[in-house]
Amino acid sequence: MNLITDINFKNKIALIRVDYNVPLNSNLEVSDNTRIKNSLKTINYILNNKGSCILMSHLGEPKGEGYEKKFSFDNITSTIEKEIGKKVTLIKNYIHNGSSIKKKISKGSVTILENLRFCKEEKLCDKKFSKNLASLADVYVNDAFGTSHRKHASTYSVTQYFKEKCVGTLIEKELYNINRILKSKSKPFTAILGGKKISDKIDIIKKLIKTVDHIIIGGAMSNTFIKALGGNIGSSLYENDKIDTAIILLKEAKKYNVKIHLPEDCIIANTIKFRCKTEISYSNNIKKGMMNLDIGPKSINTFKNIIEKSKKILWNGPMGVFEINEFSNGTNKIAESVSNTTKKGAFSLVGGGDSVAAINKNNFSKNISFISTGGGSLLYYISNGFLPALKILN
Ligand code: 3PG
Repeated sequence: MNLITDINFKNKIALIRVDYNVPLNSNLEVSDNTRIKNSLKTINYILNNKGSCILMSHLGEPKGEGYEKKFSFDNITSTIEKEIGKKVTLIKNYIHNGSSIKKKISKGSVTILENLRFCKEEKLCDKKFSKNLASLADVYVNDAFGTSHRKHASTYSVTQYFKEKCVGTLIEKELYNINRILKSKSKPFTAILGGKKISDKIDIIKKLIKTVDHIIIGGAMSNTFIKALGGNIGSSLYENDKIDTAIILLKEAKKYNVKIHLPEDCIIANTIKFRCKTEISYSNNIKKGMMNLDIGPKSINTFKNIIEKSKKILWNGPMGVFEINEFSNGTNKIAESVSNTTKKGAFSLVGGGDSVAAINKNNFSKNISFISTGGGSLLYYISNGFLPALKILN
């Protein structure tokens, strides 16, 4: 793949696919600008090399039937301007008139297109839509690591209409660090996986079983494993149709001598609410009507011991319902343990919304070797060894 340093941007317009799928608070203001900050290096490089930038991204999951206030880039353009330190012009109507907009782009300017997913054509990889996007610019740059597992118009089909195309510095940095953790020989290598569903993580578990020494499993996905082993999980969330898969994964791990660690105890409640009544329970003997909502103190200790002996750590997904205080302790303690182990010399890579939020909330980010902007894309890359939007640029 070409890098931005392989392209001469002078007097050219670059169409940059960024990932500005950022969280917004209830006032529709950006509540975490990490992804915006991570796009600055590429934008500044192009501006410093006398090019102009047209940014494009999606935000959230609009219906694809036109404007929706809560997903509009009206909500994020001022934050982008602040970060870039320059006026950013928002263009709302770009769907049929790319080449006439191109003529009006002034040298050294920064423009942003309204949320791509307001047009259903984006996800459908529509040919006309892609061609119109391409007619806006001279060079295509993909710097949206978090969206590169998606085959959409702006990440995939648009690329065929450009002679000059490359990846930006964020993608370069992401690939370097992910390959670093996958290729380095230091051991023990521990993967920590959490979140709701095994179904989202089957491919990565299969892949990791061949590389890691330990897999720590938390979050609701641990319930499916515990149920598969004959445990009583009360009313906890689990995937009935993945019981067989869980058994296959456990057998596969044994074959490769990889230890899968499930939580032995957990925090239970009969409701998922702030200030609700909680108890500690064995994870395989949960009372009727109660749910496993976080890992318990014994599990925290066991998991900490494994993490703190590791030389490489990969973490994706929370240990419980992290957004509710009562169930955030497990995820916070794992964040602390990953941070402490990194300070002692281990290499750590953390990706995915809640795990990164736990790191940021506790001010551990400076201790982590690399924080990925990808969630789904990170898992896809590790599982498959490529990302569709990058493969097409090759
Ligand atoms: C993400 O936040 O993981 C990326 O922006 C991809 O978003 P999507 O899952 O809505 O495609």
